[in-house]
Amino acid sequence: MWIEEISKEVHLYEGKEVEIKGWLYNRRSSGKIHFLIVRDGTGIIQGVVVQDKVSSAVFDLCNSITQESSLIVKGKVRKDARSSGGYELDITDIRVIQSAAPYPISKKEHGIDFLLSHRHLWLRSRRQFAIMRIRGEIIAAIQDFFNARGFVRLDAPIFTPSACEGTTTLFEVPYFGDKVYLSQSGQLYAEAGCMAFGKVYTFGPTFRAELSKTRRHLTEFWQIEPEIAYAELTDIMKLAEEFVSYVVKRVIEHRKEELSIIERDIKLLDKINPPFPQISYQEAIDLLAKQDKVPQIEWGDDFGAPQETYLSEQFELPVMIHRYPAKCKSFYMKRDTQDPNLALCVDMIATEGYGEIIGGSQREENLTTLEQRIKEFNLPKEPHEWYLDLRRYGSVPHSGFGLGLERLVAWICKLQHIREAIPFPRTIERFYP
Ligand code: 4AD
Ligand code: MG
Repeated sequence: MWIEEISKEVHLYEGKEVEIKGWLYNRRSSGKIHFLIVRDGTGIIQGVVVQDKVSSAVFDLCNSITQESSLIVKGKVRKDARSSGGYELDITDIRVIQSAAPYPISKKEHGIDFLLSHRHLWLRSRRQFAIMRIRGEIIAAIQDFFNARGFVRLDAPIFTPSACEGTTTLFEVPYFGDKVYLSQSGQLYAEAGCMAFGKVYTFGPTFRAELSKTRRHLTEFWQIEPEIAYAELTDIMKLAEEFVSYVVKRVIEHRKEELSIIERDIKLLDKINPPFPQISYQEAIDLLAKQDKVPQIEWGDDFGAPQETYLSEQFELPVMIHRYPAKCKSFYMKRDTQDPNLALCVDMIATEGYGEIIGGSQREENLTTLEQRIKEFNLPKEPHEWYLDLRRYGSVPHSGFGLGLERLVAWICKLQHIREAIPFPRTIERFYP
């Protein structure tokens, strides 16, 4: 029996004897009574051991069970309005499977470095439990959203011959006498996919050797990247706002308890509904020019974290900033016919200072123009031949975007730092455990 099943339908189990297989989360004792807080990975339940209701062996055992010992308990489910889940377990029997050594993570405050070095154990704690369950819900919602709309999931390779998002953040890997790079993005492969299947999405780990030591950057993060044939910039902007709103709604509906464990204020998330505000890069620059809280940037520069935060604070909804100067964006972006200095691209900036969660664009579909861009960006042509083929054989306008899963998790959970949004974070300074 899983604890989650009991909490979902307490009335079914009330008065019944159940067996829980789990670990000891915590213990309190007061003379003739022990309170064992047991977790099984799906939830937490308080078990009560009363001296004159169990054998003396079982009662005495409780004095010595250590935190995180694995155990199997039997007991009767009892309604209890004072208990956090609304019910408790009157324990009749306990079997210890392994008696845990003194557990390194206790109730006292630990430094973040210590906790990260013990991430394999830290994941068992209540707050991390809630965050990871919300992450799981977000992943399920992402797939449901695209599957329900007829997208085919088409995963991209991780070893790649070329750069998608600039050559400065590439991880190089030796490959049988050759060298390859860890994928920065599945996009180029998704483009091949949409020409074969109309609408596809990739969903997998992507890598950036980012030298940024910020609360928004990981070196390994998951990206979901839809790509649609015949779609233009406005089409994917609409898709992006519907997508993000859907995922937020799913989390609010299915993960109320977890949101309350991490004390997330749902009122702000409840407002996330389309349409989202849309401003051009130029309008964003004009907004920044009117204030003196954060540094100004030159036309042509990308926004940094302070500018993104300032811009996001001007709106209650995520804001979509479109048409950035082409020179600060990637080689594959189509230019605006109205002004060829601008790329037909969009970034979605989350609320509450969480920065960019989505980057997307319409793609250059003309062969000669794309060849020219590859030259201008100083990229080698040969590893891109297959990509250029997509422009040789039935090229069509097409567009897509990439959403960073951990940025979305960090925003929805309002985390201090992105490293808590992934089970085993990889940053510049950390690849253990
Ligand atoms: O804006 P980016 O670089 O766009 C691309 O990779 C495109 N090829 C996507 C596409 O059009 N298919 O990255 C997309 C998103 C960002 O908006 C951000 O959410 C996330 O990926 N991201 C990171 N997340 C964590 N750590 C990092 N170092 C990240 N870099 C990007
Ligand atoms: Mg970006």
